[in-house]
Amino acid sequence: MSALLKDTILEIFKNSRGILATDATEDTMDKRMSDVGIVPTPELRVRFREILLTTPGISEFIGGVILNDEIISSETSGGISFVELLSQQGIKVGIKVDRKTHDFANFPGEKIAEGLDGLRDRFKKYKDLGASFSKFRAVIRIGEGIPTQACIESNAEVLARYAALSQESEIVPIVEPEVVMDGSHPMERCMQVTSAVLQNVFFYLQKHRVDISGMILKSNMILPGKDSGMDVSDKEVAITTLEVLKRKVPEILPVVVFLSGGQSPVSATSRLNEMAKIGGFPWKISFSYERALEGPSLEIWKGLESNVDLARNEFLKRARLNSLALAGRYDLQMERDNS
Ligand code: 13P
Repeated sequence: MSALLKDTILEIFKNSRGILATDATEDTMDKRMSDVGIVPTPELRVRFREILLTTPGISEFIGGVILNDEIISSETSGGISFVELLSQQGIKVGIKVDRKTHDFANFPGEKIAEGLDGLRDRFKKYKDLGASFSKFRAVIRIGEGIPTQACIESNAEVLARYAALSQESEIVPIVEPEVVMDGSHPMERCMQVTSAVLQNVFFYLQKHRVDISGMILKSNMILPGKDSGMDVSDKEVAITTLEVLKRKVPEILPVVVFLSGGQSPVSATSRLNEMAKIGGFPWKISFSYERALEGPSLEIWKGLESNVDLARNEFLKRARLNSLALAGRYDLQMERDNS
């Protein structure tokens, strides 16, 4: 494996660190802001990221931050680039390179990830800007008659072609096939679908000669559909998720990170903690959360400068608790502590 890819992975995850994915596209971020009563503007989108990334002490818990096109080329109010801001703190810079998911022709209700066109040149640009890892997300939906094998395979091949191009540029790929929580399906169905998706993703990664030891998998946890009305314990989620991953993920993969996918921040932390406590897996596990890390801070901030300190405290707290969870040292009681 390329020494650079290996070093990047080691550096991001050393000392129980994880990833902040603050890479929501402009329209998604605007929606998240509107949902908490903020009237979105480009300036506020950048300001929110500045508040998070200038929080003192985050580099103890966060080793990598995934940015999007808008933020990677923006500057803080202090006049330095976000890339520089992160580098100064010893945090690796990541870039989301997919161009979202789009309707999959001939397959109603299904999505295909796009973003391969021109990607080799874009990687060159991101490399020059200072990115050392990247992310590409595909979405698999569960429903009546879906996902189809065509959708699973097509997305898996797109992810594999992305990962090959990323490694060619010596940028660590984060391959993210997200089986989304939407729907009323039971947990078993999420288990079956995630197993099939991972099986195909690793088949295509190997077919495209991707170096599995120089990449990161970003996976969903195994959960019942959010409208299923089913209640599962955090331990059950942890056991089932590990069962699927241990069957489908090659041992040479260095790290599996999880997305939060709409789980509450506390659940996302607690389930990670349960997995760490169970142990016995050959790869490292960590977090790569967006909503579960920054969601509570966005709600507290509300776009007001007077709330900045409180928003930063909340962000640092979530980052710290998730880092503790990686060592199985998180406890619900810690949610009540003040910092
Ligand atoms: P969530 O943690 O909000 O699911 O976001 C993670 C992510 O990067 C989705 O692509």
